[in-house]
Amino acid sequence: MFWPWHDRRGRFSRLKALMLAGLVAPALVLAGQWAAGALQPRPLEEIIHGTGLWGIRFLLLSLALTPIRRAAQYADLLLIRRMLGVGAFLWLAAHFLFYVGDQAFDLGLVAREIVGRFYLTLGTVALVVLLAMAATSTDGMVRRLGARRWRGLHRLVYGVGVLAIVHFFMQSKADPGEATIAAGIWCWAMARRLISGNGVVAPLVGIVATVAGAGIAEALFLYFLRNVDPARVLAANLDFTFGPRPALWAGLLVFGAEVLFSLRRYVARQARGGSAPGRRHPVDSAA
Ligand code: HEM
Repeated sequence: MFWPWHDRRGRFSRLKALMLAGLVAPALVLAGQWAAGALQPRPLEEIIHGTGLWGIRFLLLSLALTPIRRAAQYADLLLIRRMLGVGAFLWLAAHFLFYVGDQAFDLGLVAREIVGRFYLTLGTVALVVLLAMAATSTDGMVRRLGARRWRGLHRLVYGVGVLAIVHFFMQSKADPGEATIAAGIWCWAMARRLISGNGVVAPLVGIVATVAGAGIAEALFLYFLRNVDPARVLAANLDFTFGPRPALWAGLLVFGAEVLFSLRRYVARQARGGSAPGRRHPVDSAA
């Protein structure tokens, strides 16, 4: 019998069990808050926000997983890649379904809103691509598509990340803080994929890309949607009167992660004694 916490050989995997618990726990918290009446005055709206937030967090984690695995030299992370991707999709499918519920299941209205509101159009395109990726995530589909085509499809996750982040920015009314951090994490994942190596250069480029990418994304958002001078927004990152701004928080986050990765590399080196990594399954080696 196969369970989600089993590895390919059918053995219990602590890592997979932990990932599954991490994916399910926020849903239990949200459901508990709803049942306790803590999501007033509009529980459905709160659920749409909660599912969107957790969906994008898991999505970003899934696209950062390969760079994290390489940076931390933690090969076992391959085990949770598929579960994390499918989990992110399920969170976002729930996000969409709660939105449809909020429109009283009037599918005509939902379709008009998706066509008429650009941030909903972007979210829908992103979700459709995620659906295609989730539907092709089985070993059987990898064989049918062939590893190269399968990898090509699954690399679209980076494009999905961009659409999701723009969707996030566009619906952030006053505070684009977490959307800015999300943009920084996307930039870190891209930079760490493009520049490999774990010396000083690659982590440093990753951190600089995070701060610069997040700062530029925030400045663009405030310029296009609020007409604020981008130079002022960028300069505000150097003013610490009210503490670090989101772009710097993103930088601090990835800096802390890089420190942990280097510690992990040290431990892995000691444990491995310099042996080479083995062959990979195509599902595990994509994007
Ligand atoms: C990959 C796909 C998607 C991602 C990653 C995503 C993510 C998010 C996030 C992070 C938020 C903000 C939550 C907050 O600030 O608390 C949000 C809000 C929202 N999303 Fe999505 N979403 C996606 C697709 C969709 C789709 C397909 C729809 C509906 C057609 C949708 C409808 C909404 C609505 C209505 C809001 C709240 C807007 C408001 O309060 O004004 N999203 N989404």
